[in-house]
Amino acid sequence: MSFYVTTPIYYVNAEPHLGHAYTTIGADILARHMRQRGEDVFFLTGTDEHGEPVAQAAEREGVTPRELADRNAQRFLDLMPKIDVSNDFFIRTSDERHTERVQEVMQRVHDNGHVYEGTYEGFYCPRCADFKTPTELGPGNTCPIHEIVLEVVTEENWFFRLSSFEGELLRLYEEHPDLIAPDFRRNEAIAFIRGGLQDVSLSRPKLDWGVPLPWDPEQVMYVWFDALLNYYTALSFARPGEDLTDRYWPANLHVMAKDILKFHSIYWPALLLAAGIELPKRMYVHGYLLMGEKKMSKSLGNVLDPFEAIDKFGSDALRFYCFREVSFGQDGSISTAGFEARYETELANDFGNLASRVLAMIDRYRDGVVPEGAEVDPDLADGEGGLGGIEVLVTGLLDRTEITRALEVCWGAVRRLNRYVEERKPWELAKADDGAELDRVLYNLAEGLRVVTLLLHPYVPRSSDVLLAALAEDSRELAAFGSRGGGQSVERIAPLFPKLS
Ligand code: MSP
Repeated sequence: MSFYVTTPIYYVNAEPHLGHAYTTIGADILARHMRQRGEDVFFLTGTDEHGEPVAQAAEREGVTPRELADRNAQRFLDLMPKIDVSNDFFIRTSDERHTERVQEVMQRVHDNGHVYEGTYEGFYCPRCADFKTPTELGPGNTCPIHEIVLEVVTEENWFFRLSSFEGELLRLYEEHPDLIAPDFRRNEAIAFIRGGLQDVSLSRPKLDWGVPLPWDPEQVMYVWFDALLNYYTALSFARPGEDLTDRYWPANLHVMAKDILKFHSIYWPALLLAAGIELPKRMYVHGYLLMGEKKMSKSLGNVLDPFEAIDKFGSDALRFYCFREVSFGQDGSISTAGFEARYETELANDFGNLASRVLAMIDRYRDGVVPEGAEVDPDLADGEGGLGGIEVLVTGLLDRTEITRALEVCWGAVRRLNRYVEERKPWELAKADDGAELDRVLYNLAEGLRVVTLLLHPYVPRSSDVLLAALAEDSRELAAFGSRGGGQSVERIAPLFPKLS
């Protein structure tokens, strides 16, 4: 089966920060997990390059929008291998192949009668590229996200008949309750629709950094329509000479934070309905990474640089920390102190030490060969944190995009394996010359470690590759506890998570 997963495409008005890395890693965990299950995965990320946010930032810096876009898109492109993101394509909306396709789709929306010419007046946030409704405004007519005072803007332009989709959208959410998760986000979308939809302007008259409207090239398209369509257009040119649209559309999952829920839950389905394109199957809306009490964001100046964090802790630790510390779906604070604490206690001690100990004991007591012919120990397989059926549990959670809960299940198993070492004391069994019991314990430890490391692979791809190689495991397919019988030669490894200097 195909599995097409996307991240938002990020504005190039600034460099990437950890908030962008967070969503992208989340989508990467899902993409990697699905590949392990043998699915035909396509994973898209990229940059949103048109519109006011970029044009204004370029003006402030005294460069052209294209120069700014090229420079910052490169920073996003450089970030992907740094955080071990396995995207299949990186779309840039300034790519002509995208703009041509956007024009085609929007012409269809026009021809289907969903646009008209008119005047619009309202409070406009240039950083969001969005008119705010009275209920969305912060105190003193401010943007609730950027905390800047907004001005009333009047524009002559083209409109999209969003209001005409109210009934259809409400029916859609009623008939497809799975379209948006978590549930409380779907309820927010429904409440927004029930509050009444206004038509939205579809073009900008005084801007030339964008996609010209095919039927009125004096105006450029509203950047959100240009941007949302990336999920669809990318498939037509991601592989030269091939159109992947039939293979991967509709998308299985759009991942994003709650700041752009309105665009994805209302504008996006309405636009697709207007163009006669199938709707995506699901969207998952996560919360914010906070620094202190506030959303980490460039405009608030409290961002953590992902490049710096990786230099200090490594990419696996960053990937692990973000999803362990902040429950995916909720807001949560992160801090360097919290990062260091989890690195030491969980990665280095719980997981790293378990791996080193198990491999060292098999080396010492069994010449590096995992004992063969031993049975799975029910004490390790059953109950809380048990290894039996763990892959089914994790698979089920990740099918619901429960990235943190799936990691909790894996960590429960890591801790259970550590307790097993402490309880069975292989060193005492070796002294007592209890060969059969020692075989059984060592086999169970090696097998448990293999199974849980395969499940952890999407979270910590680098260290799990090292560990799986040491465990003589070539495949990355998920495995059931006890499915491998032993007999393989394993090797000792250097600490997976060395002490921080
Ligand atoms: N360009 C639009 C998206 C268009 S998608 C068709 C945009 N870009 S953005 O650069 O502002 O990125 C917003 C997204 O970045 C959020 O939805 C989220 O995925 C991610 N995040 C940015 N800051 C974040 C946090 N502090 N916490 C969590 N996610 C963060 O909006």
